[in-house]
Amino acid sequence: MRVGVLTGGGDCPGLNAVIRAVVRKGVSEYGYEFVGFRDGWKGPLEGLTSTLGIAEVRGILPRGGTILGSSRTNPIKVDGGVDRIKSNLADLGVDALIAIGGEDTLGVATKLHDLDVPVVGVPKTIDNDLSATDYTFGFDTAVNIASEAIDRLHTTAESHHRALVVEVMGRHAGWIALHAGISGGANAILIPEVPFDLDEVISWVTSRFESHYAPIIVVAEGALPKDGDLITKDTTLDAFGHVKLSGIGDWLASAIEARTGKEARTSVLGHIQRGGTPTAFDRVLATRFGLQAIDAIHDRDFGVMVALRGTDIVRVPLADGTGVLKTVPMSRYEEVRTFFG
Ligand code: F6P
Repeated sequence: MRVGVLTGGGDCPGLNAVIRAVVRKGVSEYGYEFVGFRDGWKGPLEGLTSTLGIAEVRGILPRGGTILGSSRTNPIKVDGGVDRIKSNLADLGVDALIAIGGEDTLGVATKLHDLDVPVVGVPKTIDNDLSATDYTFGFDTAVNIASEAIDRLHTTAESHHRALVVEVMGRHAGWIALHAGISGGANAILIPEVPFDLDEVISWVTSRFESHYAPIIVVAEGALPKDGDLITKDTTLDAFGHVKLSGIGDWLASAIEARTGKEARTSVLGHIQRGGTPTAFDRVLATRFGLQAIDAIHDRDFGVMVALRGTDIVRVPLADGTGVLKTVPMSRYEEVRTFFG
């Protein structure tokens, strides 16, 4: 069997650990050959490949990013895109595909499976917002990076008696903000799922200053004020129709300065959360996903996604993973409000 592998969407620590596990088990236990597709769905669409074998995956376990490259190419939006993918796979003798990606990449995989392309999905996103899996790899790394940043920001904020707003990633789901905010001892956590009341945020900031501590506000980039719109610096859309986020942190710091008369600064963590070496948790999860994905290929169990349920890796229909986003439940948010202010 000849298996194609691609990584699509925003990169995420642990992608290389998946690729390594897929190739190591595929070659040594099943005698498979592999084709690396470059830059997400652009690879099969344009026939862009790279050699993928044991030599290529040596030493990549701790490396961030993806040796295959990534992109947000959407072949469904390209005229004749699906037919081009099918004919490129046939020309290259590729029997099945492993697509490693988030909502968008796996959404394409779901549609291709419906059109008879044999595909198995591996969920990835630092946002941890895919349904049907308890965790995605990359999330733990992002939370640790953000949590360490918050620890550092506490000491400088205290020295200058300033408010510090920390903007973290999280387009539709506030999991990174929630977990990093809890572990970093934030005085307010603002997430996309719960539009915030600016008056309430100002009262938390004020009470924190009154107790002679410097407030730290963690805000997800997709968070928005009640009765307000998403605040962004850039309005261009990607191939999946997503606007580029970031801007809410600066907006909030300006509002805090204007309303409290105290200094406020913003730290936008941005892609630092996605780069560099994965945590041990993410390496293990990514490795287990890779091992199970190649087993699904071996079983010819196409149209599935591997997923973490408790401590087990299971297979679920691809459509279950991408149909509905896994957002932070209100009860999870409510339980940490005791720390706000
Ligand atoms: O989807 C994962 C993610 O990291 C989001 O949290 C963020 O909004 C987006 O990707 C950023 O994408 P890009 O790297 O294309 O700017």
